Amino acid sequence: MSDTYLQLDKLTLAYGDTVAVKDLDLSIRKGELVALLGPSGCGKTTTMRSIAGLLNPASGRITLDGADITRVSANKRNVGLVFQSYALFPHLTVYENVAFGLRLKGVSGQDLDTKVTAGIKSVGLASFAARKPGELSGGQQQRVALARSMVMEPKVLLLDEPLSNLDARLRLEMRAELQRVQKETGVTMIFVTHDQIEALALADRIVVMLNGGIEQIGTPEEIYNKPVSAFVADFVGFENVFALENGKLATSNSLVELSAPVPQAVKGLAWRPRMVILGSGPFQGTVRGTSFAGNVREYLLDTPLGPIKAEVDAGEPSHAIGATLAFDLPLGAAAPLSRYR
Ligand SMILES: Nc1ncnc2c1ncn2[C@@H]1O[C@H](COP(=O)(O)OP(=O)(O)OP(=O)(O)O)[C@@H](O)[C@H]1O
Ligand SMILES: [Mg+2]
Repeated sequence: MSDTYLQLDKLTLAYGDTVAVKDLDLSIRKGELVALLGPSGCGKTTTMRSIAGLLNPASGRITLDGADITRVSANKRNVGLVFQSYALFPHLTVYENVAFGLRLKGVSGQDLDTKVTAGIKSVGLASFAARKPGELSGGQQQRVALARSMVMEPKVLLLDEPLSNLDARLRLEMRAELQRVQKETGVTMIFVTHDQIEALALADRIVVMLNGGIEQIGTPEEIYNKPVSAFVADFVGFENVFALENGKLATSNSLVELSAPVPQAVKGLAWRPRMVILGSGPFQGTVRGTSFAGNVREYLLDTPLGPIKAEVDAGEPSHAIGATLAFDLPLGAAAPLSRYR
């Protein structure tokens, strides 16, 4: 890619003998907001630490804005890092917290004041500049941490689960805030989250990681609608995932014929609970569990294919536990997986 800004080349990261990330390749464009998404321990923080310069790669290369920074020390990279625990200085005001890094860099006088004031304003805290962190809500503190990194004008801003300390409502507000700040300033951002909804809502592109490698890179729409592997499918809510063997659906005890042939390259099929048709179709299942979730009702069926999760509008007639129902897994709705693992 010619417009690559940050590039990771065959990056391998280890703690002693433990390899945490293996042969990672990733290209990020200037101004992109990229989310790293994946289960605990998959290597998200490790990847971020290496970009920030806090962890030396065992092998591979990191290039930023045309320069090889693989061996450049953290304080010379101009990469900002905001952690989950954002550790503000409790004895300093919001203003002084935001000014801190700039002062260290030798910025002073009018220049300093202009930058700090603009930074505080950009996160909506103009009237809080004189307060100390202890006099702010969690979300406000988080915004101070964001402003503190932003004023350094980093080439890349790394955010490692910066919203995980917040309650649901504040998370939503901060999400919007992050997106706004990012669009306004055009800063390149990499954002780590466990939360797929957050990644879908925020990112230009999502990188799904598993076991120290990349499972899939794509736009939120691609990840959500066209998962390539069983893992990604399950992760984004295709809860009924099957491998294909010889063009047949592989269940725990048999191979099930499909209603039409699928291309050989397809190694698996996945259906969201929403895609399962209840009440008609070639298969039969027994309702094992049901739960009401506001505007939808969820069913867990015991079937010859194994357990199947289905979801229907709550307004439809409900089925009792123990009832036997016909159902279908419509082939046209399924996500075709190119990898099953
Ligand atoms: N300091 C360390 N020493 C040894 N192993 C480590 C160290 N830090 C992380 N690891 C291991 O490296 C792997 C990746 O860890 P990492 O912190 O990157 O995961 P993560 O994706 O950020 O997970 P989480 O979502 O839980 O934060 C894990 O297996 C972890 O146990
Ligand atoms: Mg982590």
